[in-house]
Amino acid sequence: MKASPTFLVSFALTLMGLSASRLSAQEKVTYWQNVRPILQQHCVKCHSPGEVGPFPLRDYDEVLSHAGFIAHVTRTRYMPPWKADTAFRHFANENVLSEQEIATIAAWVAGGKQEGDAPKEPRRSKSGRKAAEPNGQPSIGNDRLRVSMRRAFSIPGSNREEFRFFHIPLRNTDTLYVRAIRFIPGNRKLVHHARIMCDTSGLTEGIDGLSAEDPHSFDYQTKPLSDPFLYGWVPGNDRIRFPEGMVKKILPGTALILNIHYSPSQTPQTDSSSIEFELTGPEGKVELRTFTMTEELISNKPFRIPAEARKTFYMLSEPLPEDMSLVTIMPHMHLLGKSFKAFSVSPGGDVSPLVHVPDWDFNWQMTYQYLSPLPLPKGSVIYANAEYDNTRSNPRNPNLPSKETGQGWGTRDEMMNLVIYYVPGRLQQP
Ligand code: HEC
Repeated sequence: MKASPTFLVSFALTLMGLSASRLSAQEKVTYWQNVRPILQQHCVKCHSPGEVGPFPLRDYDEVLSHAGFIAHVTRTRYMPPWKADTAFRHFANENVLSEQEIATIAAWVAGGKQEGDAPKEPRRSKSGRKAAEPNGQPSIGNDRLRVSMRRAFSIPGSNREEFRFFHIPLRNTDTLYVRAIRFIPGNRKLVHHARIMCDTSGLTEGIDGLSAEDPHSFDYQTKPLSDPFLYGWVPGNDRIRFPEGMVKKILPGTALILNIHYSPSQTPQTDSSSIEFELTGPEGKVELRTFTMTEELISNKPFRIPAEARKTFYMLSEPLPEDMSLVTIMPHMHLLGKSFKAFSVSPGGDVSPLVHVPDWDFNWQMTYQYLSPLPLPKGSVIYANAEYDNTRSNPRNPNLPSKETGQGWGTRDEMMNLVIYYVPGRLQQP
């Protein structure tokens, strides 16, 4: 005899320690009533055709064929990808399922994956897409500047990862005031992640097309950049829109340096990626500044991780010369990184948690946006600690046998950066 769906639902709920009253077993859990809203909000932005997810999850049929897998990846919190510890701090662009949502999906699968009734007027595509932007960032609007790589890059079919630099002169004679930035990968299958930097020295031209593995790439790393971290792109983080009234400035005569990581490909392919800026005027806008903490500030130098060692580095800022309101934060390490934590201590001894990534994943580096600008008083010190694992038991270790690793932009080198966008002063809380 087959167990009834209702029995299975209540059984699944009991397993998960949920009282039946929270999600009444009498109520049928259906795709349309219960599951679709969760997937629309948390998944379809990536799981749609042309986006990074390996299959679409837009409607019942698409979801049905992956149902068991969906229950699994949500229960283990593998999906949606969100690496920051939510017990440490919440962020505006957070994409995390509640226990209840996870239980609903499990109950739906256990209960026979029923479709239920679609609402009379099915709202698809447009409204679905909008709901799929969990951080409420609409697409980039009118005043745009779109630039592309100077020439398409030929990705060799060598089945190796490629880390390349590209040089994109903007030739802007005026300062640009940027409200939103969007990265458009040319080859969505192979562009794995990208970092955008700004240079006004005019000395980085020759970096165009250079491999990050090429020792000559160090020749271009001798002068500080005008903005070492304008934007970091990872799949699903296609655009950033700064809070209302805030802009990022790009100085006259800027060249963008684009650092792209390509996944291995067995066949030769090409990529021509683009960057789109939404621009505005300076009137009434507050400028977002970048506060970057780099390896220079490490207190237990040298920043070298011996072969087969695990090591934690600590860095601290100078006392902040003014009040600052933090808008975003982004830790950055490479493949040996294991965890990253940052916090600040005010002169009066108050501790503010800034960000904690307990299980660092090079593939999911994000710009974390604070729920509202986070004020740090003048004189505060920002502390960070980062753990690295250079042993062979680190499955991401790019060097086998492992070898001593130090600072560099190449992915086989390491970094310890903390990039903060802030506005000077204390913003009035809305
Ligand atoms: C930020 C983009 C993004 C979001 C949001 C996202 N996914 Fe994914 N998902 C991916 C990518 C990329 C992969 C393939 C790479 C991987 O498995 O890490 C993937 C893989 C999967 C897989 C296959 C896992 C495997 O091991 O092959 C499932 C199932 C899945 N996602 C379900 C979901 C569900 C359900 C949600 C929402 C609750 C969701 N995803 C949200 C990007 C996303």
